[in-house]
Amino acid sequence: MSTPGYFVSFEGGDGGGKTTQARLLGDWLGELTGREVVVTREPGGTALGAELRQAILHGQDMDPRTEALLYAADRAHHVASLVRPALERGAVVVTDRYLDSSVAYQAGGRELSEEEVERLSLWAVQDLLPDVTILLDVDPATSAARMTGDPDRLERAGDAFHRRTREAYLRRAAADPGRWVVVDAAGAVEEVHAKVRAAVAARLGLDGR
Ligand code: TYD
Repeated sequence: MSTPGYFVSFEGGDGGGKTTQARLLGDWLGELTGREVVVTREPGGTALGAELRQAILHGQDMDPRTEALLYAADRAHHVASLVRPALERGAVVVTDRYLDSSVAYQAGGRELSEEEVERLSLWAVQDLLPDVTILLDVDPATSAARMTGDPDRLERAGDAFHRRTREAYLRRAAADPGRWVVVDAAGAVEEVHAKVRAAVAARLGLDGR
């Protein structure tokens, strides 16, 4: 189901600079297209989402199904209340993480299958997929070095977990090259932004020169 807006998601491991790149891309797309821009994130892009984010990342330990359902609940509400209405108004929506995070982290990293997590996520969003998904690919060593502050529950999950999520992302990107663009996140912010701009302009059919 296509909408008049543009929907872009950023994915990748922690510490890859998704938040910065999402903001830079949003600013650039706003200037280029003159459209309204919504830069948002999962989990926690709405008020209810902020409560769910707190529970998932800083609350008590939980089993994999509970975790997957809480991310899916956050996403369902995010899409229904913010993302889809914005896209229907013709806005540009840039989200820092979307359903591929669930497939990579809740399935790639834990014991659920990718198919079931994807099905759950697609049900939650009534099949809304991004026009472009940018994988900011970071090797786990760089990502660990860039992380600051107290680690949350997911960040504490260990190296093997983060290697599996990276592999899951790379597999998904290779399987659907029409939607995914893989960008090496190791460069300087401006360098990565330039690569992201070029890829997004090409995918969305915009003249980004
Ligand atoms: P994020 O906000 O990107 O983390 P930070 O701002 O601390 O870098 O995401 C929080 C964590 O939630 C991150 O470790 C990835 C995880 N996550 C999932 O496991 N599944 C999901 O569906 C999403 C959206 C995030």
